[in-house]
Amino acid sequence: MDDPAKSGCTGNDSTLFSRVASQQKQGGKPLRISKKIVGKMASCPHVGKSLELKSPLGAESMTYKWPLKKGKGSVRRSEDKEDEAAEILETVRWVCADHPDVDETLDKNGAIGKYDPTSFEAMESLCVAYNKAIDKYLSSQKKGTAKANDNFKPRCTRPLLKHILQKCYNKSVTDPNLLNHYEAFTPEVYGETSFELICQILDKLHPISGDNKFVDLGSGVGQVVLQVAALTDCEVSFGIEKATTPANSPRS
Ligand SMILES: C[S@@+](CC[C@H](N)C(=O)[O-])C[C@H]1O[C@@H](n2cnc3c(N)ncnc32)[C@H](O)[C@@H]1O
Repeated sequence: MDDPAKSGCTGNDSTLFSRVASQQKQGGKPLRISKKIVGKMASCPHVGKSLELKSPLGAESMTYKWPLKKGKGSVRRSEDKEDEAAEILETVRWVCADHPDVDETLDKNGAIGKYDPTSFEAMESLCVAYNKAIDKYLSSQKKGTAKANDNFKPRCTRPLLKHILQKCYNKSVTDPNLLNHYEAFTPEVYGETSFELICQILDKLHPISGDNKFVDLGSGVGQVVLQVAALTDCEVSFGIEKATTPANSPRS
């Protein structure tokens, strides 16, 4: 039975399965798994398989384990930290928007149209088609063919960067509520400057060159530091944070 929805295996089971996987890691202790879990795992033939998304800049790939985590269906799905299928689709779309060569190859293939978050085969074929388009794009970059060079952008666009930073935030800030545990009316009061406001400030300061250094004194979880590093030519982008919870988030 390949369809997880029909087999009773949903994205929410990934929590269950990852608990089993982490049990397995616990110092060789005998593993005790209930019959219910064994039954569920047996009915999901693709459990534990990986889906990979390559980087258009040749950086490390993103990998996702099946079954994908299922979101809460929030209206702004890109901000739904659990919805990995939506995350894959949005990443593919944003990369296509930034790289017309990738878009063209993928469009011919029709892979996006077959998107189905409940089917491993559908998600796998989307990722495979996307990765092939990325490989083709990267090899045309290497060969220096005119079209790829014309389209080459050393920096991603702001919408793609916002998407990337949102994903980083979702993965590193596991519980945003913990950031609100501070004493009122102290310097540790927490808040976050929006992506858009930082863009406006950078536009006013433009151009920021290699002679400039950026320091965010009171950097929280560091999202501004990353944004400035990604959008400007500053020599260094640096954050200093004294509160333990936000300071530790980027390490997780
Ligand atoms: C309002 S948050 C801003 C976070 C981030 N800069 C932003 O704009 O999204 C202010 C942060 O400054 C930190 N902070 C306050 N005084 C500080 C100090 N003297 N040294 C380092 N961090 C400080 C607080 O702990 C808090 O996390």
